[in-house]
Amino acid sequence: MTSRLTIEDVEISGRRALVRVDYNVPFQEGTSIISDDSRIKASIPTLRHLIDKGCSLVLCSHLGRPKGKRDPQLSLKPIAKRLSKILEQEVQFVEDCVSESAAAAASKLGKGEILLLENLRFHRGEEENNLAFAKQLSELAEVYINDAFGAAHRAHASILGITKFLPSYAGLLLDKEVNYLENALSHPKLPFTAILGGAKVSDKIKVMDRIAKIADNICIGGGMAATFLAASNKEIGNSSIEADFISQAQTLLNENDPTNAKLILPIDVVVVKTFQKDSDFLAKSAGDLDYDDIIVDIGPTTADYYSSIIQKSNTILWNGPMGVYEWEKASAGTYSVAKALANGNMLSIIGGGSTVDAVNFFGLQAQMTHISTGGGASLELLEGRELPGVVSLREKTEG
Ligand code: 3PG
Repeated sequence: MTSRLTIEDVEISGRRALVRVDYNVPFQEGTSIISDDSRIKASIPTLRHLIDKGCSLVLCSHLGRPKGKRDPQLSLKPIAKRLSKILEQEVQFVEDCVSESAAAAASKLGKGEILLLENLRFHRGEEENNLAFAKQLSELAEVYINDAFGAAHRAHASILGITKFLPSYAGLLLDKEVNYLENALSHPKLPFTAILGGAKVSDKIKVMDRIAKIADNICIGGGMAATFLAASNKEIGNSSIEADFISQAQTLLNENDPTNAKLILPIDVVVVKTFQKDSDFLAKSAGDLDYDDIIVDIGPTTADYYSSIIQKSNTILWNGPMGVYEWEKASAGTYSVAKALANGNMLSIIGGGSTVDAVNFFGLQAQMTHISTGGGASLELLEGRELPGVVSLREKTEG
Protein backbone atom coordinates (compact mmCIF):
# COMPACT_ATOMS: atom_id res chain seq x y z
CA MET A 1 0.00 0.00 0.00
CA THR A 2 2.84 2.44 0.75
CA SER A 3 5.42 1.07 -1.64
CA ARG A 4 6.06 4.28 -3.55
CA LEU A 5 9.57 5.61 -3.28
CA THR A 6 9.92 9.09 -1.89
CA ILE A 7 12.69 11.62 -2.42
CA GLU A 8 14.08 10.52 0.95
CA ASP A 9 14.52 6.95 -0.26
CA VAL A 10 16.57 7.64 -3.37
CA GLU A 11 19.87 9.28 -4.21
CA ILE A 12 19.03 12.36 -6.22
CA SER A 13 21.81 14.72 -5.20
CA GLY A 14 22.68 17.26 -7.87
CA ARG A 15 20.00 16.10 -10.34
CA ARG A 16 17.68 18.39 -12.28
CA ALA A 17 14.19 17.60 -10.97
CA LEU A 18 10.83 18.35 -12.54
CA VAL A 19 8.58 18.84 -9.52
CA ARG A 20 4.79 18.73 -10.06
CA VAL A 21 3.23 20.90 -7.39
CA ASP A 22 -0.37 21.93 -6.86
CA TYR A 23 -0.27 25.72 -6.85
CA ASN A 24 -3.93 25.96 -7.79
CA VAL A 25 -4.48 28.67 -5.16
CA PRO A 26 -7.32 31.16 -4.72
CA PHE A 27 -6.93 34.84 -5.61
CA GLN A 28 -8.84 37.85 -4.31
CA GLU A 29 -11.54 38.36 -6.91
CA GLY A 30 -10.40 40.24 -10.01
CA THR A 31 -6.84 40.69 -8.69
CA SER A 32 -3.51 38.88 -8.78
CA ILE A 33 -3.36 38.84 -4.97
CA ILE A 34 -3.17 35.31 -3.57
CA SER A 35 -5.77 34.95 -0.82
CA ASP A 36 -4.54 31.65 0.62
CA ASP A 37 -1.00 30.38 0.09
CA SER A 38 -1.28 27.19 2.16
CA ARG A 39 -0.71 25.01 -0.90
CA ILE A 40 2.49 26.91 -1.68
CA LYS A 41 3.69 26.61 1.92
CA ALA A 42 2.82 22.90 1.97
CA SER A 43 5.31 22.27 -0.84
CA ILE A 44 8.23 23.88 1.02
CA PRO A 45 9.55 20.75 2.85
CA THR A 46 9.99 18.98 -0.50
CA LEU A 47 11.59 22.01 -2.12
CA ARG A 48 13.96 22.49 0.82
CA HIS A 49 14.95 18.84 0.81
CA LEU A 50 15.79 19.04 -2.90
CA ILE A 51 17.65 22.34 -2.52
CA ASP A 52 19.69 20.85 0.34
CA LYS A 53 20.60 17.96 -1.96
CA GLY A 54 21.94 20.41 -4.53
CA CYS A 55 19.20 19.65 -7.06
CA SER A 56 18.03 22.26 -9.54
CA LEU A 57 14.27 22.55 -9.57
CA VAL A 58 11.86 22.98 -12.46
CA LEU A 59 8.43 23.44 -10.89
CA CYS A 60 5.19 22.95 -12.79
CA SER A 61 1.52 23.33 -11.85
CA HIS A 62 -1.92 24.04 -13.19
CA LEU A 63 -4.05 27.00 -12.10
CA GLY A 64 -7.78 27.10 -12.71
CA ARG A 65 -9.38 25.58 -15.79
CA PRO A 66 -8.22 27.53 -18.86
CA LYS A 67 -9.08 24.55 -21.14
CA GLY A 68 -6.00 24.62 -23.33
CA LYS A 69 -5.98 28.38 -23.93
CA ARG A 70 -3.62 31.04 -22.64
CA ASP A 71 -5.44 33.22 -20.08
CA PRO A 72 -3.45 36.00 -18.43
CA GLN A 73 -5.77 35.88 -15.40
CA LEU A 74 -4.53 32.35 -14.78
CA SER A 75 -0.82 33.00 -15.04
CA LEU A 76 1.46 31.50 -12.39
CA LYS A 77 3.65 34.60 -12.36
CA PRO A 78 2.24 35.96 -9.05
CA ILE A 79 2.93 32.55 -7.54
CA ALA A 80 6.62 32.75 -8.49
CA LYS A 81 6.78 36.02 -6.54
CA ARG A 82 5.05 34.58 -3.48
CA LEU A 83 7.23 31.47 -3.51
CA SER A 84 10.34 33.60 -3.80
CA LYS A 85 9.23 35.56 -0.74
CA ILE A 86 8.56 32.41 1.27
CA LEU A 87 11.84 30.74 0.33
CA GLU A 88 13.82 33.98 0.49
CA GLN A 89 15.53 33.18 -2.77
CA GLU A 90 15.01 34.00 -6.43
CA VAL A 91 12.39 31.98 -8.30
CA GLN A 92 12.75 32.36 -12.05
CA PHE A 93 9.64 32.28 -14.18
CA VAL A 94 9.19 31.33 -17.81
CA GLU A 95 6.10 32.17 -19.82
CA ASP A 96 5.49 28.72 -21.24
CA CYS A 97 6.04 25.21 -19.99
CA VAL A 98 7.32 23.44 -23.11
CA SER A 99 8.89 26.18 -25.27
CA GLU A 100 12.52 26.59 -26.29
CA SER A 101 12.82 29.31 -23.67
CA ALA A 102 11.62 26.88 -20.99
CA ALA A 103 14.22 24.33 -22.14
CA ALA A 104 16.96 26.99 -22.21
CA ALA A 105 16.06 28.33 -18.75
CA ALA A 106 15.89 24.81 -17.29
CA SER A 107 19.26 23.82 -18.74
CA LYS A 108 20.96 26.90 -17.24
CA LEU A 109 19.78 26.26 -13.68
CA GLY A 110 22.54 25.90 -11.12
CA LYS A 111 22.49 23.84 -7.91
CA GLY A 112 19.61 24.87 -5.65
CA GLU A 113 18.13 27.23 -8.26
CA ILE A 114 14.43 27.25 -9.04
CA LEU A 115 12.42 27.83 -12.19
CA LEU A 116 8.60 27.93 -12.22
CA LEU A 117 6.93 27.13 -15.54
CA GLU A 118 3.77 28.82 -16.80
CA ASN A 119 0.37 27.14 -16.28
CA LEU A 120 0.39 23.59 -17.69
CA ARG A 121 -3.27 23.85 -18.67
CA PHE A 122 -2.55 26.54 -21.25
CA HIS A 123 -1.82 23.43 -23.37
CA ARG A 124 -4.60 21.01 -24.22
CA GLY A 125 -2.09 18.18 -24.01
CA GLU A 126 -2.01 18.48 -20.22
CA GLU A 127 -5.60 17.45 -19.51
CA GLU A 128 -5.65 15.04 -22.46
CA ASN A 129 -2.63 13.22 -21.00
CA ASN A 130 -0.97 13.66 -24.37
CA LEU A 131 2.24 11.66 -24.36
CA ALA A 132 4.06 13.95 -26.80
CA PHE A 133 3.36 16.84 -24.41
CA ALA A 134 4.46 14.73 -21.43
CA LYS A 135 7.67 13.82 -23.26
CA GLN A 136 8.42 17.49 -23.97
CA LEU A 137 8.00 18.25 -20.29
CA SER A 138 10.17 15.31 -19.32
CA GLU A 139 13.02 16.70 -21.45
CA LEU A 140 13.37 19.58 -19.00
CA ALA A 141 14.74 17.36 -16.23
CA GLU A 142 16.38 14.08 -15.22
CA VAL A 143 13.94 12.95 -12.52
CA TYR A 144 10.27 13.59 -11.85
CA ILE A 145 8.81 14.24 -8.42
CA ASN A 146 5.09 14.39 -7.79
CA ASP A 147 4.24 16.54 -4.79
CA ALA A 148 0.85 17.67 -6.14
CA PHE A 149 -1.43 15.65 -3.90
CA GLY A 150 -4.34 17.98 -4.69
CA ALA A 151 -4.14 16.99 -8.36
CA ALA A 152 -3.19 13.32 -7.88
CA HIS A 153 -6.71 12.22 -8.92
CA ARG A 154 -6.23 13.74 -12.38
CA ALA A 155 -4.86 11.45 -15.11
CA HIS A 156 -3.11 14.36 -16.80
CA ALA A 157 0.19 14.56 -18.68
CA SER A 158 2.16 16.13 -15.81
CA ILE A 159 0.74 13.58 -13.36
CA LEU A 160 0.48 10.32 -15.27
CA GLY A 161 2.01 10.53 -18.79
CA ILE A 162 5.24 12.00 -17.49
CA THR A 163 5.98 8.90 -15.40
CA LYS A 164 6.59 6.95 -18.62
CA PHE A 165 9.59 9.11 -19.40
CA LEU A 166 11.39 9.83 -16.13
CA PRO A 167 12.22 7.98 -12.90
CA SER A 168 9.30 9.10 -10.76
CA TYR A 169 9.22 9.60 -7.00
CA ALA A 170 6.84 10.94 -4.41
CA GLY A 171 7.43 14.32 -2.81
CA LEU A 172 7.10 14.60 0.97
CA LEU A 173 3.69 16.29 0.89
CA LEU A 174 2.12 13.73 -1.42
CA ASP A 175 3.53 10.89 0.66
CA LYS A 176 2.36 12.40 3.96
CA GLU A 177 -1.15 13.04 2.62
CA VAL A 178 -1.58 9.50 1.32
CA ASN A 179 -0.22 8.00 4.54
CA TYR A 180 -2.54 10.02 6.78
CA LEU A 181 -5.65 9.33 4.76
CA GLU A 182 -4.93 5.65 4.15
CA ASN A 183 -3.97 5.00 7.76
CA ALA A 184 -7.07 6.75 9.06
CA LEU A 185 -9.14 4.27 7.13
CA SER A 186 -7.07 1.15 7.63
CA HIS A 187 -6.18 1.45 11.33
CA PRO A 188 -8.16 4.28 12.93
CA LYS A 189 -7.82 4.60 16.68
CA LEU A 190 -11.40 4.12 17.90
CA PRO A 191 -13.85 5.70 18.49
CA PHE A 192 -13.67 7.06 14.96
CA THR A 193 -16.09 9.86 14.02
CA ALA A 194 -16.61 11.38 10.60
CA ILE A 195 -18.09 14.86 10.41
CA LEU A 196 -19.52 15.34 6.94
CA GLY A 197 -21.03 18.54 5.64
CA GLY A 198 -20.89 20.83 2.64
CA ALA A 199 -23.49 21.53 0.03
CA LYS A 200 -24.10 18.24 -1.70
CA VAL A 201 -24.87 14.66 -0.74
CA SER A 202 -23.80 13.63 -4.24
CA ASP A 203 -20.20 14.71 -3.44
CA LYS A 204 -20.07 12.65 -0.26
CA ILE A 205 -22.29 9.61 -0.79
CA LYS A 206 -19.49 7.26 -1.89
CA VAL A 207 -17.31 8.32 1.02
CA MET A 208 -20.24 7.79 3.37
CA ASP A 209 -20.83 4.29 2.04
CA ARG A 210 -17.21 3.43 2.74
CA ILE A 211 -16.86 5.23 6.05
CA ALA A 212 -20.10 3.76 7.34
CA LYS A 213 -18.28 0.40 7.45
CA ILE A 214 -15.33 1.81 9.41
CA ALA A 215 -16.44 4.72 11.60
CA ASP A 216 -18.42 4.62 14.85
CA ASN A 217 -20.36 7.82 14.12
CA ILE A 218 -21.09 10.00 11.13
CA CYS A 219 -22.36 13.47 12.08
CA ILE A 220 -24.11 15.27 9.25
CA GLY A 221 -24.29 19.03 8.72
CA GLY A 222 -24.16 21.65 5.98
CA GLY A 223 -26.51 21.95 3.03
CA MET A 224 -26.52 18.19 2.61
CA ALA A 225 -28.22 17.78 6.00
CA ALA A 226 -31.44 19.00 4.32
CA THR A 227 -31.50 15.98 2.02
CA PHE A 228 -31.02 13.64 5.00
CA LEU A 229 -33.69 15.42 7.03
CA ALA A 230 -36.07 15.16 4.06
CA ALA A 231 -35.18 11.46 3.78
CA SER A 232 -36.24 11.02 7.40
CA ASN A 233 -39.57 12.76 6.63
CA LYS A 234 -38.76 16.07 8.29
CA GLU A 235 -40.07 19.37 6.89
CA ILE A 236 -37.09 21.17 5.35
CA GLY A 237 -38.99 24.26 4.17
CA ASN A 238 -37.41 26.00 1.21
CA SER A 239 -33.95 24.40 1.65
CA SER A 240 -32.37 22.89 -1.45
CA ILE A 241 -32.22 19.13 -1.55
CA GLU A 242 -30.99 16.54 -4.02
CA ALA A 243 -34.13 14.55 -4.69
CA ASP A 244 -32.17 11.88 -6.59
CA PHE A 245 -30.30 10.99 -3.42
CA ILE A 246 -33.25 10.68 -1.04
CA SER A 247 -33.51 6.93 -1.43
CA GLN A 248 -29.74 6.40 -0.95
CA ALA A 249 -29.93 8.63 2.12
CA GLN A 250 -32.86 6.54 3.39
CA THR A 251 -30.88 3.34 2.90
CA LEU A 252 -28.01 4.76 4.93
CA LEU A 253 -30.42 5.97 7.64
CA ASN A 254 -32.31 2.69 7.80
CA GLU A 255 -29.22 0.52 7.78
CA ASN A 256 -29.68 -1.44 10.99
CA ASP A 257 -26.49 -3.45 10.71
CA PRO A 258 -24.98 -2.83 14.20
CA THR A 259 -21.47 -2.89 12.75
CA ASN A 260 -22.24 0.21 10.68
CA ALA A 261 -21.58 3.76 11.84
CA LYS A 262 -24.34 5.56 13.69
CA LEU A 263 -25.66 8.27 11.37
CA ILE A 264 -26.45 11.41 13.35
CA LEU A 265 -28.58 14.23 11.94
CA PRO A 266 -29.05 17.77 13.30
CA ILE A 267 -31.55 18.04 16.14
CA ASP A 268 -31.91 21.78 15.53
CA VAL A 269 -30.92 24.12 12.71
CA VAL A 270 -30.46 27.83 12.00
CA VAL A 271 -32.81 29.12 9.32
CA VAL A 272 -33.44 32.27 7.26
CA LYS A 273 -36.34 33.27 5.00
CA THR A 274 -34.11 34.80 2.32
CA PHE A 275 -30.66 33.45 1.56
CA GLN A 276 -28.73 36.61 2.49
CA LYS A 277 -26.25 37.40 5.21
CA ASP A 278 -28.35 40.28 6.53
CA SER A 279 -31.51 38.16 6.91
CA ASP A 280 -33.04 37.36 10.30
CA PHE A 281 -31.47 34.16 11.62
CA LEU A 282 -33.46 31.87 13.88
CA ALA A 283 -32.63 28.55 15.57
CA LYS A 284 -35.45 26.00 15.31
CA SER A 285 -35.96 22.37 16.15
CA ALA A 286 -35.27 20.29 13.03
CA GLY A 287 -38.82 18.94 13.18
CA ASP A 288 -40.39 22.37 13.34
CA LEU A 289 -39.63 24.28 10.14
CA ASP A 290 -42.02 26.50 8.16
CA TYR A 291 -42.53 26.01 4.42
CA ASP A 292 -40.34 29.07 3.64
CA ASP A 293 -37.40 28.39 6.02
CA ILE A 294 -33.96 27.82 4.51
CA ILE A 295 -31.40 25.90 6.59
CA VAL A 296 -28.05 27.72 6.81
CA ASP A 297 -26.34 26.07 9.82
CA ILE A 298 -26.71 23.39 12.44
CA GLY A 299 -28.36 24.75 15.61
CA PRO A 300 -26.74 25.33 19.03
CA THR A 301 -28.01 22.07 20.60
CA THR A 302 -26.63 20.09 17.66
CA ALA A 303 -23.34 22.00 17.83
CA ASP A 304 -22.98 21.02 21.51
CA TYR A 305 -23.96 17.43 20.79
CA TYR A 306 -21.45 17.09 17.92
CA SER A 307 -18.77 18.69 20.11
CA SER A 308 -19.41 16.11 22.85
CA ILE A 309 -19.11 13.28 20.31
CA ILE A 310 -15.87 14.80 19.02
CA GLN A 311 -14.47 15.00 22.57
CA LYS A 312 -15.09 11.28 23.06
CA SER A 313 -13.45 10.28 19.76
CA ASN A 314 -9.83 9.35 19.10
CA THR A 315 -9.91 9.83 15.33
CA ILE A 316 -11.90 12.48 13.48
CA LEU A 317 -12.24 12.93 9.78
CA TRP A 318 -13.89 16.21 8.89
CA ASN A 319 -14.98 17.09 5.38
CA GLY A 320 -17.52 19.84 4.73
CA PRO A 321 -18.59 22.89 6.76
CA MET A 322 -21.69 22.71 8.96
CA GLY A 323 -23.19 25.90 7.51
CA VAL A 324 -22.52 29.12 5.63
CA TYR A 325 -19.52 29.84 7.87
CA GLU A 326 -18.57 33.00 5.91
CA TRP A 327 -21.72 34.65 7.33
CA GLU A 328 -21.18 35.49 10.98
CA LYS A 329 -24.67 34.42 12.04
CA ALA A 330 -24.40 31.08 10.26
CA SER A 331 -20.85 30.30 11.38
CA ALA A 332 -21.42 28.98 14.91
CA GLY A 333 -21.90 25.32 13.91
CA THR A 334 -18.72 25.15 11.85
CA TYR A 335 -16.81 27.11 14.50
CA SER A 336 -17.89 24.80 17.31
CA VAL A 337 -16.74 21.71 15.39
CA ALA A 338 -13.41 23.41 14.61
CA LYS A 339 -13.01 24.49 18.23
CA ALA A 340 -13.80 21.03 19.62
CA LEU A 341 -11.14 19.58 17.30
CA ALA A 342 -8.65 22.29 18.19
CA ASN A 343 -9.13 21.68 21.93
CA GLY A 344 -9.01 17.89 21.73
CA ASN A 345 -6.13 15.41 21.72
CA MET A 346 -7.56 13.20 19.01
CA LEU A 347 -6.07 12.69 15.56
CA SER A 348 -7.89 15.23 13.41
CA ILE A 349 -7.79 15.00 9.64
CA ILE A 350 -9.35 17.87 7.75
CA GLY A 351 -10.08 17.56 4.05
CA GLY A 352 -11.93 19.46 1.36
CA GLY A 353 -11.27 23.00 0.14
CA SER A 354 -14.07 24.77 2.01
CA THR A 355 -13.43 22.93 5.28
CA VAL A 356 -9.78 23.94 5.13
CA ASP A 357 -10.84 27.51 4.31
CA ALA A 358 -13.14 27.46 7.34
CA VAL A 359 -10.40 26.24 9.70
CA ASN A 360 -8.04 28.92 8.35
CA PHE A 361 -10.82 31.51 8.62
CA PHE A 362 -11.13 30.74 12.35
CA GLY A 363 -7.34 30.73 12.75
CA LEU A 364 -7.32 27.18 14.15
CA GLN A 365 -5.18 25.47 11.51
CA ALA A 366 -2.13 25.01 13.73
CA GLN A 367 -4.17 22.93 16.17
CA MET A 368 -5.26 20.25 13.68
CA THR A 369 -3.22 17.08 13.20
CA HIS A 370 -3.39 17.06 9.44
CA ILE A 371 -4.98 19.48 7.00
CA SER A 372 -5.18 17.99 3.55
CA THR A 373 -4.30 20.15 0.55
CA GLY A 374 -6.52 17.97 -1.62
CA GLY A 375 -10.25 18.48 -2.08
CA GLY A 376 -11.28 16.07 -4.84
CA ALA A 377 -8.12 14.01 -4.34
CA SER A 378 -8.75 13.39 -0.65
CA LEU A 379 -12.38 12.45 -1.32
CA GLU A 380 -11.39 9.97 -4.04
CA LEU A 381 -8.78 8.41 -1.77
CA LEU A 382 -11.34 8.13 1.04
CA GLU A 383 -13.77 6.51 -1.40
CA GLY A 384 -11.13 3.82 -1.86
CA ARG A 385 -10.18 4.79 -5.40
CA GLU A 386 -6.63 4.52 -6.65
CA LEU A 387 -5.24 7.92 -7.62
CA PRO A 388 -3.38 8.05 -10.96
CA GLY A 389 -0.72 10.28 -9.42
CA VAL A 390 -0.02 7.76 -6.66
CA VAL A 391 -0.41 4.50 -8.54
CA SER A 392 1.95 5.65 -11.31
CA LEU A 393 4.71 6.30 -8.78
CA ARG A 394 4.25 2.97 -7.10
CA GLU A 395 4.32 1.05 -10.38
CA LYS A 396 7.28 3.00 -11.58
CA THR A 397 9.34 2.38 -8.48
CA GLU A 398 8.35 -1.26 -8.09
CA GLY A 399 9.19 -2.07 -11.70
C1 3PG B 1 -8.03 21.20 -6.69
O1 3PG B 1 -8.06 22.42 -6.45
O2 3PG B 1 -8.85 20.41 -6.18
C2 3PG B 1 -6.92 20.66 -7.53
O3 3PG B 1 -5.95 21.62 -7.79
C3 3PG B 1 -7.46 20.06 -8.80
O4 3PG B 1 -8.03 21.05 -9.61
P1 3PG B 1 -9.10 20.65 -10.72
O5 3PG B 1 -10.34 20.19 -10.01
O6 3PG B 1 -9.29 21.87 -11.57
O7 3PG B 1 -8.50 19.50 -11.51
